[in-house]
This record gives sequence, C-alpha cells and structure tokens, in this order.
Amino acid sequence: MDFNFDIIGGYLPLFLRGTLYTVGFSIASIILGSIFGLGIGFGRMLKSPLWRWPFLAYINFFRGTPLYVQILIVHFGLVPAFFGSTNALISGVVALSLNSAAYTAEIFRAGIQSVDPGQREAALSLGMTGRQSMRFVVLPQAVKRMVPAFGNEFIVLVKDSSLLALVAAPEIMYWSNTMKGQYMRIWEPYLTAAVIYFVLTYSLSKLLSYIERRI
Ligand code: ARG
Repeated sequence: MDFNFDIIGGYLPLFLRGTLYTVGFSIASIILGSIFGLGIGFGRMLKSPLWRWPFLAYINFFRGTPLYVQILIVHFGLVPAFFGSTNALISGVVALSLNSAAYTAEIFRAGIQSVDPGQREAALSLGMTGRQSMRFVVLPQAVKRMVPAFGNEFIVLVKDSSLLALVAAPEIMYWSNTMKGQYMRIWEPYLTAAVIYFVLTYSLSKLLSYIERRI
C-alpha cells in the first residue's frame, strides 16, 4: 500500500471547508431538530389518542425509515415543492432536522417521564397550576437528565450528516468522493474522512463527559 500524502495535502483546504459544513449541518440540525422535537414530544404526550396519533406517526415514520431515503425525499420532493429548485444546503438542514426531531421528541418525553410523578403532585398540592408545575418543577429536573442524550444525538448527527454527500452537499464525504473520482484512489480519501470524523466525535464525547461531570 503506497500512501500518497501529496494528494491529501492538495485536498486539505477542501476537507477543511467540508469539516465546517459538517459541523454547520450538525449544529443547525440539533438546534432546529430540538425546537421541532420539543413540539412533537409534547404532542406525543397528549392524553387523547386521537390528538396524539399524528405525533406518534411522525416519530415512527422518521425512526422507521432510513435517513438515506428521507434525504432523497426531501431533496427531490419537499425542497423543490417549496423553493422551486433543489438546494443541497437547505435539503441537508431540513432532512437532518426532521430526522433528529423524531429522536429528540423521544428524548424529551423520556426525560419528562423520568421525573417522579410525586414531584408534580407535590407542586400541584402547593397550589401551582399544571403549567407552573411543568415549568418550575418537572422541566428543571428533566433537562438535566436529557443532557447526555442530547450530546449523543449531536454526535450521531456529525456522523450521519455524511449521508448528505448523496445530494452533493459539500461536507466531508462529498470531498472524499470527489478525491476518489479524481485520483481513482481509495485509502487516501476515505481514511482522511475517517480520521476527521474520529477527531470530531472523540473530542465531542470528551467535552460531553466533562459537561456531564460538571452538572
Ligand atoms: N442511521 C440511521 C438511518 O440510516 C439514522 C439514525 C439517525 N439517528 C438519530 N439519532 N438522529 O436511518
């Protein structure tokens, strides 16, 4: 195996840009996905089965179909329908956010339901309304427990955003594929991608366990 570092050197600026896109996609999607997922999560906890159903269907659809397929549906169906033409950046953020919302909805639900019902009952018996007990008693405890799961979700997004190369979103894998196409080489482009992803996820997980210890 003759490993050619020169061609990696030539592509380094592109990989650097790709890394920024990968991180950008992940940050945008964890933020948008969490906001959207919060709504889905609360909908999922509605008492009436009829009202709960659409939220449950959303979660099941996005967790039960491959992200690969979702990206194609968003890129060639949803985004052109709304914006008139395809756009890999919009598709990337939309597909990842929609997917992530299904997972964060369940993180919210699990977090809220992990708080002992006695906490809510105690708040109600002190005269708080249902809304106040959620806001001042249940949520502060639940949020703390959600932190590790959200960290994991972010790491998953960093790795799964690699699927966006499929629609030519200029993230890390896109440049690996381009490099492979140009030089007809396998190890250089894909090992470089692997190393970059590993550095990203490893440092993120270290940062995460530091934050977890702090809280
Ligand atoms: N790898 C999964 C798939 O192909 C996507 C998982 C997304 N997971 C997540 N926590 N956002 O469907």
